[in-house]
Amino acid sequence: MTRIAIITGSTRPGRKSPAIAAWVHQNAARRDDVDYEVVDLADFDLPHLEEPVAAAMTGEYRHPYTRRWSQTIAAFDGYVFITPEYNHSMPGVLKNAIDHLYTEWHDKPAGFVGYGTHGGTRAVEQLRLVMGELHIADVRAQVALSLFTDFHNGTELVPGDHQVKTLNTMLDQVARWANALAPLRATYGRQTPGAKPTVDESRRSDRMEGSRS
Ligand SMILES: Cc1cc2nc3c(=O)[nH]c(=O)nc-3n(C[C@H](O)[C@H](O)[C@H](O)COP(=O)(O)O)c2cc1C
Repeated sequence: MTRIAIITGSTRPGRKSPAIAAWVHQNAARRDDVDYEVVDLADFDLPHLEEPVAAAMTGEYRHPYTRRWSQTIAAFDGYVFITPEYNHSMPGVLKNAIDHLYTEWHDKPAGFVGYGTHGGTRAVEQLRLVMGELHIADVRAQVALSLFTDFHNGTELVPGDHQVKTLNTMLDQVARWANALAPLRATYGRQTPGAKPTVDESRRSDRMEGSRS
């Protein structure tokens, strides 16, 4: 069964991301072709990056918390990122969690649920830039929840019906691409959570030779 993680992008006290992740999960759970699971960044307690070697270089991690995060993310076939907008970008805690890993993200799709005064669209646009570097295929459909119209008093989530329609379109696209990319993952990916990386070494050297900077 295809497995998709719904990743919360904020960890501060009073955050909205768990309620939004629960709404996404509730809608997604109606589907029988895919297994969805909420992955809460708050459960991983990652510090600011303290690995001495970048994940793209060896994929071997010094810290147990990074290995646990790696095993969790490697086990999924795709992702739905729930991201608020902080100063026109994604929260630092989300970028930090993304930066801890590399090949674990490869050859998988991602969809986005943004929220903020303008639906978190600027945060999602910035996340899309990051996705390219991680060999993540970001789908077009995107949920943009407005703090003014999709939350009661700016706090309680009450999304409009049109948001459910967009959410389902996004989930369809993520599921389709997760299946389409499965042969690539079978060839190049980390197939067993916790296994030593079976990476496409050409991709690492691609990075190191500076074909992208
Ligand atoms: C540090 C910070 C910066 C913010 N900057 C923006 C912003 O640039 N644009 C926006 O639409 N909302 C902004 N907001 C409002 C958040 O999108 C809103 O408070 C949201 O609920 C935060 O997500 P969270 O509750 O999951 O932490 C900001 C909030 C915080 C805490």
